[in-house]
Amino acid sequence: MDIKVRTGQAEEEAADAVVVMHCEGEPRLTGGASALDTRLKGRLAALLKSGEFTGKLNQVSIVHVAPGEPVRAKRVVLVGLGKPKEVSLEKLRQATATAAKAVRNAGAESFAVPLTHTLSAAGRGQGEGALAQAGPREVAQALVESAILGLYQFTVYHTERKEEAKTIRRMTVLVDDPPALTQAQQGARQGEVVGEAATYVRDLCNHPANVVTPTYMANEAKKVAREKNVRCTVLDRPQMERLGMGAILGVARGSHEPPKFVILEYRGGPRGERPVALVGKTITFDSGGISLKPADNMEQMKADMTGGAAVLAAVLAAAQLRLPLNLVAVIPATENMPGGRAIKPGDILHSLSGKTIEVINTDAEGRLILADGLTYAQRFKPAALVDIATLTGACVVALGNHAIGVLGNNEQLIGELKNAGEQCGERAWQLPLWEDYYEQIKSDVADVKNTGGRAGGTITAAAFLSKFAGDAVWAHLDIASTDWSERERAYIPKGATGVGVRLLIQFLYNRANGVRPAATRGH
Ligand code: BES
Ligand code: MN
Ligand code: ZN
Repeated sequence: MDIKVRTGQAEEEAADAVVVMHCEGEPRLTGGASALDTRLKGRLAALLKSGEFTGKLNQVSIVHVAPGEPVRAKRVVLVGLGKPKEVSLEKLRQATATAAKAVRNAGAESFAVPLTHTLSAAGRGQGEGALAQAGPREVAQALVESAILGLYQFTVYHTERKEEAKTIRRMTVLVDDPPALTQAQQGARQGEVVGEAATYVRDLCNHPANVVTPTYMANEAKKVAREKNVRCTVLDRPQMERLGMGAILGVARGSHEPPKFVILEYRGGPRGERPVALVGKTITFDSGGISLKPADNMEQMKADMTGGAAVLAAVLAAAQLRLPLNLVAVIPATENMPGGRAIKPGDILHSLSGKTIEVINTDAEGRLILADGLTYAQRFKPAALVDIATLTGACVVALGNHAIGVLGNNEQLIGELKNAGEQCGERAWQLPLWEDYYEQIKSDVADVKNTGGRAGGTITAAAFLSKFAGDAVWAHLDIASTDWSERERAYIPKGATGVGVRLLIQFLYNRANGVRPAATRGH
């Protein structure tokens, strides 16, 4: 999709559709919408008056412009933002994505959104949401980002498509207030980079595991390293053996696909400044290994590399946005398969850290590869160390499908991640990591065991990881409950959601811009 930001008025824009927002219960259309309405002789206001369009969140009405009417677009799309007091950037994202999909379903190929009107329609909400402080930059970002997210489709393997898939080719953000133009352009650019980063993650997760192998992921990392100031190193099995990465190598034993240990470095900050280090779980397929998973939904385990994909895409976005900070991404990649040489329950692995791990359940493989990933990341003396992983089914039980689990050893860092999640719409909720939980992962025969029983499964997994985070300021994001969606939502498709990358980019953006807010509400 081609994205443009320029000065112009909604009624003068020759697009297939112009999208205008409206808050529920507002009796009159505002700004750009009322200008359009005047030219359409009250046809929009009539929808409000009749009660056909109320402005309820994600409600859409499409009005066709008749021949001779003095509006250059072919359609006007009204979309509801919900109650004025509850308007937020998140609601704006949902409404925009819903409108963009409605535009596409109508067969239109281009649409425009008037920014000033959107700001005034949405700004009427003195809600608690982020919109109270949002300006042209944030709103333009939300518009572009959510349109890209909402319009996502994964169709590469369809060979018998009945009709040509409908696609939108052009989106224009219209600014009628020239001083806001530069800010809107910057926001739109950020929205495009972030939206495309999430698209990239979704694609990597939706592609099947016979395509996205550890080698494939390593090759993608090499492609990311074509960006300015990005370097990629790929360690293969012999190199990993020499270093003593017994934990990831243990997981890789049951598979014919060679494991890869990928390191991406982005230098956007001053030389010598300690980097942020990201570690992403990259199990390109999780069968469970010898502790084989049940067949139901096992196909979803092709997305068990979402953490790694998010980290990869975050480096790409950081480089594209030229974020002024140093960044390291560590991507330990392997399949988890039950081949004849696979690790068995009871086996003991020597991790890179020197700690020994008793494998109780070969399906708790994510924490094994992360153990070596976290140890390796400490070579870079990171200012902050964040891992992200589809780690535990228990996270689904604890938080449902609407929150990422966050745990760690530093409340400040956890607060930063929670804030970033609130801002971008990928919210994280903290679980405790108290000393009491460590009892569950004590082993009789090794330093630690890789499962802690059913109780507090997300927490004991994090407790395990913390043993490999050393002295680093560390936090862990469990995305097992959010990486896959059983149903389509406003800007989240069915299947891979691409979760995590937007949170990481927001977190990095805040850090690069010196935003270090304390923990938010809730704790
Ligand atoms: N990849 C799974 C976790 C997962 C489950 C992700 C559902 C997405 C949806 C992970 O490797 C796993 O199998 N975890 C086990 C751990 C257990 C054996 C301690 C689990 O959660 O059952
Ligand atoms: Mn598993
Ligand atoms: Zn897994």
